[in-house]
Amino acid sequence: MCGITAYIGDRDAYPIVVNGLKRLEYRGYDSSGIMMYDGETIHLSKTKGKVSDLEEITENDPKRKVGNIGIGHTRWATHGVPNDVNSHPHFSESENLVIVHNGIIENYDTIKKELISRGYSFRSDTDTEVLINLIEEIKKNEGCKLGKAVQLALTNVIGAYAIAVFDKTKPNELIVARLGSPIAIGVGKDNEEFFVASDASPFIEYTKEAIYLEDGELAIIKKGRKIKVRKIEDDKLIDANIQELQMSLDQIEKGGYDHFMLKEIHEQPKAITDTYRGRMLADQGVIRMSGIDDNLSKFLNANRIIIIACGTSWHAGLVGEYLFEDLARIPVEVEYASEFRYRNPIITPNDVVIAISQSGETADTLAAIKLAKSKGAFVFGICNVVGSSIARETHAGAYTHAGPEIGVASTKAFTTQITLLSLIALKLAKEKGSLSKSAVNTYLQTLQQIPSQVESMLSIDDKVKEIASVYKDAKNCLYLGRGFNFPVALEGALKLKEISYIHAEGYPAAEMKHGPIALIDENMPVFVIATKTGHYEKVVSNIQEIKSRSGKIIAVVTEGDVTVKEIADHVIEIPETEEPFTPLLTTIPFQLLSYHIAVMLDKNVDQPRNLAKSVTVE
Ligand code: G6P
Repeated sequence: MCGITAYIGDRDAYPIVVNGLKRLEYRGYDSSGIMMYDGETIHLSKTKGKVSDLEEITENDPKRKVGNIGIGHTRWATHGVPNDVNSHPHFSESENLVIVHNGIIENYDTIKKELISRGYSFRSDTDTEVLINLIEEIKKNEGCKLGKAVQLALTNVIGAYAIAVFDKTKPNELIVARLGSPIAIGVGKDNEEFFVASDASPFIEYTKEAIYLEDGELAIIKKGRKIKVRKIEDDKLIDANIQELQMSLDQIEKGGYDHFMLKEIHEQPKAITDTYRGRMLADQGVIRMSGIDDNLSKFLNANRIIIIACGTSWHAGLVGEYLFEDLARIPVEVEYASEFRYRNPIITPNDVVIAISQSGETADTLAAIKLAKSKGAFVFGICNVVGSSIARETHAGAYTHAGPEIGVASTKAFTTQITLLSLIALKLAKEKGSLSKSAVNTYLQTLQQIPSQVESMLSIDDKVKEIASVYKDAKNCLYLGRGFNFPVALEGALKLKEISYIHAEGYPAAEMKHGPIALIDENMPVFVIATKTGHYEKVVSNIQEIKSRSGKIIAVVTEGDVTVKEIADHVIEIPETEEPFTPLLTTIPFQLLSYHIAVMLDKNVDQPRNLAKSVTVE
């Protein structure tokens, strides 16, 4: 978690670093800080709160904004509560060195005790301050340059990090390094300026050339010189690969919407199309995906598929289970990456593991991938962020191509992950012969209709808003669905919790009678998915059970439904589609509903409290 930015060059560093931090606030936003060096003095400004709070401080004291070198940080607290002192950047004891850090130093306590015994004192409760003092101590004892001191210090720490370090006595230089947390370095023309950030979005308007550090690498960045990248382990110099960035500025701006989440909900027709574009020729019944094509025998001979993911991506994985089992007849297990990695799972070389992650940086998913690889499994990644750690760590994979997702509550990532899983399931079904050619063709043609159907769902916004206004003050909500739409119930509840802080639970509809039914009274809104193709009659019975206990029913039904309309308090219709694709439609009203409720409750939609978009800590 946490976002870091830095600049070194001839421009004013302040606007670059601060605007960069705003683009990285999705990574954490409980406190923020910036270091500016004006050629003589280091100015450290830090505060609890968002980057806008930081700006107020610097606004009142303009000298804090001066200089051509700066480093900044937006925090998601791990060690030490969010307050001004624990905010980054952190000084070393001498106040010559300054650091920003994203990650966790697990053995910080041992190192801290050792440093205290050598006379160091600490201002903050953070592991980061321990690291910068360790670097200072090594630099002093070894009499070495900053880059070497950082490298030696990092060989002594256990944990995860992306760091940027500045030394006042060598102000033309920045040292950055990574292990487990991402870092991108934007390279300016003729190496005259450099940008550092947790992802490339902070510097996209300045350069399209970037180096993504690999795990275990350290870069020495000097103005006017080519970047030197070294292995932390043995200090060996390596060739840094400069990549051309594909991202554009308008992709990471709100484009007229009030919030990123709303923009991203509305982007879904395009995002879904982009996911299958070039991969599916619906008219010819063809599905092409190099990551699958090149490894087809692994999938076809797999004993089972294990899907690992966290959060919303895990919900997409659950839809994947229904897709693979129903269409391709391959057994599937879906695991929380955080549980999988620690429970000594049985994995064999005949298992195929699919890791799903929007960011491609989730620490638990990454660790689970490494575990599966060590046991000989073939690991396939489904990521959105191109070049992310998970995309690199997996044997093969496919990108969702949803475009940057900035809102912390995931929307288009979910629907595009399901789209991709649908394509893979259909491809395997076709190859295995578990579906006839004509059935595959029908499915593909139906899938092709989904973007325009999602578009039509978006036009019900006013109706959803009206429903939101009725239930915005609810204290608890239930979400029910069956089969393919059980994961949608979970996801609907998660969306509401995440951004409106209303307690919500998702359940398979038939499980209601084993507990949740006790909660139902006239104050309990129950959101039920009752589409025509998914055990409709059974769900209608569940709806009756809710009704007879005075619960309020908001049902998502198929166009033309008559029965549920008569019982439910509100109905939202989805267009007809094949059952496996219904999640792509039923999820839309829940996204809109959560959005409107959060707006009505005046919550911070894009940056809900305590959450972060990319969870790079355990
Ligand atoms: C965080 C985000 C969620 C996301 C989850 C997994 O909790 O707030 O929106 O679903 O991480 O992230 P990933 O990037 O691996 O999909």
